[in-house]
Amino acid sequence: MEKADAMSRRDALKMLGAVAIGSALGIKGAQAAEIPSRKQEEKKAMKVILVNGSPHKKGCTFTALSEVAATLNKHKIETEIFWIGNDIQGGCIACDFCRKNARCFRPDSVNSFVEKAKLSDGFIFGSPVHYAAPSGSMLSFMIRAFFSTGGSDVFTNKPAASVVSCRRAGSTGALDTMNKFYPINGMPMVPSQYWNMVHGNRPEEVRQDLEGLQIMRTLAEKMAWMLQNIAAGRLAQLPAPTKEAPVRTNFIRS
Ligand SMILES: Cc1cc2nc3c(=O)[nH]c(=O)nc-3n(C[C@H](O)[C@H](O)[C@H](O)COP(=O)(O)O)c2cc1C
Repeated sequence: MEKADAMSRRDALKMLGAVAIGSALGIKGAQAAEIPSRKQEEKKAMKVILVNGSPHKKGCTFTALSEVAATLNKHKIETEIFWIGNDIQGGCIACDFCRKNARCFRPDSVNSFVEKAKLSDGFIFGSPVHYAAPSGSMLSFMIRAFFSTGGSDVFTNKPAASVVSCRRAGSTGALDTMNKFYPINGMPMVPSQYWNMVHGNRPEEVRQDLEGLQIMRTLAEKMAWMLQNIAAGRLAQLPAPTKEAPVRTNFIRS
């Protein structure tokens, strides 16, 4: 599952008829064939990283993420399940080390994830529910991964979604917290058919949650569809959204 046949952007172009998109955008066939970055784009496989924020490397969260990954693989999208591990060292201490060094000072898995994220096209962040919230390690991981890349384009315009696993309740609270990270980082959120949760204390129980597994597969279908559309748009030279210089107005005025 780590590596599947890669769907190239050429495949996406064929599937989605980007030539037609190009002509709709006023780009003629011959002109479109001369887009300088096209060759590069066609060769690059699409990839989704699925982050497992559980203390269990192969537990319930992994089981849910595996269902998402298997469906993405069917669309020839590469996947990697990235386990954050059990040595997450703590939260952000607002030291601003990352502002000067473009990485978090803590030597745990955050920085290695960010390096992989630079080459990834989409993200699924998964966590067990701990007291109606994401696991403490996952929350620390996400805060530091996003804060340490603030101002860069590591995550911008790349689709993302959250997935949670719980025994019984607190799933929507955990999802709410995790879902706050994407819009503030310019990431389109991928939908499914319901909120992205599975139920179980052990992987065997999650495998019995047929509705939960279907939600995971639907999420993957929508992720694949969004990635293929983004790739086709890029090939058709549809410009990325323009970005204004940030304006920051705090509520307290001097
Ligand atoms: C510290 C802790 C807190 C938990 N809190 C909740 C909770 O609030 N609601 C719930 O339904 N399950 C809760 N659980 C159970 C886990 O969410 C559930 O077993 C989950 O599916 C485990 O996923 P994993 O195997 O990926 O770690 C908690 C488990 C632990 C260890």
